[in-house]
Amino acid sequence: MKIAVLTSGGDAPGMNVAIRAVVRYGNKLGIEVFGVTNGYEGLVSNNLELMSSKSVSGIINRGGTILRTSRYPAFKSEENVLKAANNLKERGIDSLIVIGGDGSFAGGKALTEYGIKVVGIPGTIDNDIYGTDYTIGFNTALDTIVDAIDKLRDTSASHQRCSIIEVMGRNCGDLALHAALSGGAEILITPENPMSKVEVIDKLKKYKAKDRSHAIIVVTEKMIDVHEFAKEITEKTEFRSVATVLGYVQRGGSPVAYDRMLATRMGTYAVTLLQNGESNIAIGIEDDSLTTIPIDIVLNNKKRKSPLYKLVGEVS
Ligand code: ADP
Ligand code: F6P
Repeated sequence: MKIAVLTSGGDAPGMNVAIRAVVRYGNKLGIEVFGVTNGYEGLVSNNLELMSSKSVSGIINRGGTILRTSRYPAFKSEENVLKAANNLKERGIDSLIVIGGDGSFAGGKALTEYGIKVVGIPGTIDNDIYGTDYTIGFNTALDTIVDAIDKLRDTSASHQRCSIIEVMGRNCGDLALHAALSGGAEILITPENPMSKVEVIDKLKKYKAKDRSHAIIVVTEKMIDVHEFAKEITEKTEFRSVATVLGYVQRGGSPVAYDRMLATRMGTYAVTLLQNGESNIAIGIEDDSLTTIPIDIVLNNKKRKSPLYKLVGEVS
């Protein structure tokens, strides 16, 4: 049996651990594993290489992805999907493991229509995939954010300021939510928990009246212009406000143990599933047990709002 593995979309810490698990476990079962360079772009341009136990040594602690990744919108064209499927078939490969987010799973689904068996492994810092409690990379990015919040709190408290911290997440507030709870933020603004500027300013005035010396606001990217909002807070409240956009630093770094465990479990499971002839499914984790869910269901459903939101108000 021959399988291929690729990483696609935004890189996430732990992707390398998943690749390592796929290659090592696959080889142990006598399966040849090919690595695709640059996600779907590499699949279309036939950029594949046979991997070995040795080619994945020393990567368990490395962030990013040794296979590299891409955003390649051209994969939405049937012509490119057909080309990619043929590139796999010409090498005798009939199965593919896709490590990425829901966009990457959509690419995998397109390939199943040309006879390729596909299993998806959720790899994205955003934790925005339906059917899984956690995605590979989320917990590492979360730790990076919490570390940044702790540092910003030191300076924010010393100067009695209000710090606005913008975090990633695309359309999902999970990073912001977990970071706000772990970092003790006063205010949380996410797509699932939007708040008007008036409401935020009103809250800050109340905190000031209660003698709160500083405040932390965590906000998901793309919701507001944080620098403009910081100016407005400075003008309208007694807090001087500054904004920090954490940006790409959140995507890098050595994966935390949780992500390494998740990636090892999901990587080996993906190989088992393909060996059993399964296809068009994504792996998830629910209550610490691995699950499978049809890719169609993942793509057609939105993650439900976390019950943890109610905790924010209770402890801020
Ligand atoms: P993520 O996988 O993190 O959600 P993207 O949404 O950028 O990231 O998707 C990654 C890649 O998956 C895209 O650049 C494209 O190559 C492929 N892809 C996304 N949507 C589709 C689609 N509907 N059909 C085919 N390929 C797709
Ligand atoms: O999907 C992961 C993610 O890091 C999002 O949080 C962010 O919006 C996006 O990728 C940024 O993508 P790019 O690297 O294409 O700018």
